[in-house]
Amino acid sequence: MDHLKIHHIGYLVKHIDKAAAEFGRLGYNTVSETVLDDYRKIHIRFMEKDGYRVELVSPADSSSVVSGLIKKYKNSPYHICYETPDLDASLASLTAKGFTAIDAPAPAPALQNRRVVFLMSPFLGMIELMEDQLP
Ligand code: NI
Repeated sequence: MDHLKIHHIGYLVKHIDKAAAEFGRLGYNTVSETVLDDYRKIHIRFMEKDGYRVELVSPADSSSVVSGLIKKYKNSPYHICYETPDLDASLASLTAKGFTAIDAPAPAPALQNRRVVFLMSPFLGMIELMEDQLP
């Protein structure tokens, strides 16, 4: 297995500005301002505390990839993202181990257009893989 390194915890929020202010009250610093991911129809913002990076994700409209999830989970952490030196090899390796890709690798505007892919495990729920080098 390729070395996987934790990059961030994805956190679903209904209102990204209110959530960012609340994380700020807990001592989190803003890493990046809010970015619109037009492909996934979500707003994204990264914050950090004590070396932990949190990705706030909120639906930009009802066609968003997280619109269904937010109804189910409300405001909640929902994935851990792992950096990999070889996205395609890690994807193949995890798929062989029982993970199921739920989308195709695609560039993430909030992550300098590095490619990401989401997978499901029957035992862990959702994870994200992200290539560690810039495109
Ligand atoms: Ni993420």
